[in-house]
Amino acid sequence: MKLVTFLLVAHWLCSLASSQATVELSPSTGNVSVCQGEVQKITCTVNGSQVVAWQYNEESLIYFDAVKTGEDNTTLFNFKLLCHNNVTLISTAVGNVSTLINGSTLECRNTIPDISSSIRQHINFTVKNTIPISYLHVDAVSSDTLLIIWAGADCIQSYDVLINGTNVNTTSGMSLLYNTGGAIGSIDVLVNSVDYYGRAVGNLSTQYQFNTHDFEVKAIVRNNTSIIIAIKDNYINHRPVPLSCELIVSNLTQSSSSMDCLSKRLFIFTNVTEGDVYNYTVTITNVIGSAVKNGSIVLPVQVCPSQAQNFYSTLMMSQQSLCLSDTSTSTSTTTSNRPGGSNCVLPWIFGVVAGTVVASLLI
Ligand SMILES: *[C@@H]1O[C@H](CO)[C@@H](O)[C@H](O)[C@H]1NC(C)=O
Ligand SMILES: *[C@@H]1O[C@H](CO)[C@@H](O)[C@H](O)[C@H]1NC(C)=O
Ligand SMILES: *[C@@H]1O[C@H](CO)[C@@H](O)[C@H](O)[C@H]1NC(C)=O
Ligand SMILES: *[C@@H]1O[C@H](CO)[C@@H](O)[C@H](O)[C@H]1NC(C)=O
Ligand SMILES: *[C@@H]1O[C@H](CO)[C@@H](O)[C@H](O)[C@H]1NC(C)=O
Ligand SMILES: *[C@@H]1O[C@H](CO)[C@@H](O)[C@H](O)[C@H]1NC(C)=O
Ligand SMILES: *[C@@H]1O[C@H](CO)[C@@H](O)[C@H](O)[C@H]1NC(C)=O
Ligand SMILES: *[C@@H]1O[C@H](CO)[C@@H](O)[C@H](O)[C@H]1NC(C)=O
Ligand SMILES: *[C@@H]1O[C@H](CO)[C@@H](O)[C@H](O)[C@H]1NC(C)=O
Ligand SMILES: *[C@@H]1O[C@H](CO)[C@@H](O)[C@H](O)[C@H]1NC(C)=O
Ligand SMILES: *[C@@H]1O[C@H](CO)[C@@H](O)[C@H](O)[C@H]1NC(C)=O
Ligand SMILES: *[C@@H]1O[C@H](CO)[C@@H](O)[C@H](O)[C@H]1NC(C)=O
Repeated sequence: MKLVTFLLVAHWLCSLASSQATVELSPSTGNVSVCQGEVQKITCTVNGSQVVAWQYNEESLIYFDAVKTGEDNTTLFNFKLLCHNNVTLISTAVGNVSTLINGSTLECRNTIPDISSSIRQHINFTVKNTIPISYLHVDAVSSDTLLIIWAGADCIQSYDVLINGTNVNTTSGMSLLYNTGGAIGSIDVLVNSVDYYGRAVGNLSTQYQFNTHDFEVKAIVRNNTSIIIAIKDNYINHRPVPLSCELIVSNLTQSSSSMDCLSKRLFIFTNVTEGDVYNYTVTITNVIGSAVKNGSIVLPVQVCPSQAQNFYSTLMMSQQSLCLSDTSTSTSTTTSNRPGGSNCVLPWIFGVVAGTVVASLLI
């Protein structure tokens, strides 16, 4: 059955011949870049002639005709006559690419001795080196799917993708959608480049933090007249990108319409009232879910200018007391110490502390 099919195909191939002499090389002619270890198969179709001849590098000449059929393994290529009749000859050259064929020429033609009357087609080989991947990126596309993409490779036959040390796929493509099966946490992703000889020639790995967003919120009083709320992302490792960020500050934002903190991470509220406690809540959501951080801050009551002067000079005299005092104790101490019933608090500590914290948050 197989033989019959083969003969039919061979007959069909050979019956394509016509009276016009032609020589065709496929898949291509001219300069061809090939990869080390790759198996190259070149087909030459000659019609309207009695012979198909291969010449490798001006040296070895191999030919087939109605009498000389079969195959030839005397060079780096394995030459074979696939099909012949009195109009068409089809021959293949199969070779393992190695640096030996770099810069060499393989020619196919339709005469042996009289080259001048011959129709000639040739391939010049350039052998490329194997280059493993140099770029690897992981990103979450849903709560249970990671998109792993890589690039920078050349002459790589396949890539092994390992998750937490286990090979989950071998592909010749440059990306993979991986289903985590609901697992979250730290995920190790490694992509191994395998050359045409089947050897691992290099790998890249990354650790993806497949989890909710990691961030901090700092709230500070500036100059006793405003509250600053700053959100700082912790970029220790790759994580799913935030899809939304909401900031709610009690009595400053309407809880029904929170402030959008997705692109803006620093908020200054000047419509604050001294002595009030402000509670803040930041909710950042990504494909995994939401992370919430909250806290509260007190706006101390206003200071009398003379008192501030006094306090400032006291500070200048005793630097140590400033270093030892902390904001909460100084607030409570000074508020309990109101002169003449007016709401006077010393603002300098807040000014100094606030300035420092803002500077460190913005870095
Ligand atoms: C030879 O091949 C060429 C193109 O490949 C075709 O145009 C021509 O008709 C063929 N001649 C014969 C005798 O089949
Ligand atoms: C291939 O190499 C041969 C010999 O070096 C040269 O004559 C020919 O022009 C080259 N072909 C191409 C397409 O560069
Ligand atoms: C083929 O490659 C050679 C050397 O690499 C170059 O000189 C020549 O111009 C190329 N020919 C074509 C047709 O690209
Ligand atoms: C040529 O090599 C092939 C394997 O690549 C082998 O099967 C065949 O027998 C060889 N032929 C000759 C004539 O050496
Ligand atoms: C091909 O050969 C067959 C016999 O083997 C013959 O009958 C036929 O005329 C030949 N055709 C050509 C184009 O020479
Ligand atoms: C190509 O290499 C493979 C394995 O190294 C070998 O089995 C095969 O015979 C080689 N083919 C040729 C045409 O050299
Ligand atoms: C490897 O990934 C491809 C593309 O995502 C997929 O079609 C194939 O089924 C996967 N193979 C295995 C063994 O998981
Ligand atoms: C990979 O391992 C980490 C712990 O080492 C685990 O948290 C995570 O869920 C694992 N991921 C998968 C996809 O198995
Ligand atoms: C502090 O407040 C005073 C009075 O409102 C203002 O003049 C001064 O510029 C403010 N300083 C800062 C750093 O905002
Ligand atoms: C904050 O607002 C709530 C109602 O929205 C109100 O009951 C409360 O007194 C306010 N607190 C302050 C300190 O203004
Ligand atoms: C307070 O100020 C912020 C912006 O500075 C504004 O969005 C908010 O609506 C104000 N709140 C009130 C209660 O006026
Ligand atoms: C602020 O939070 C405290 C405790 O967390 C709570 O007792 C208080 O009622 C909250 N104030 C507002 C205005 O939400």
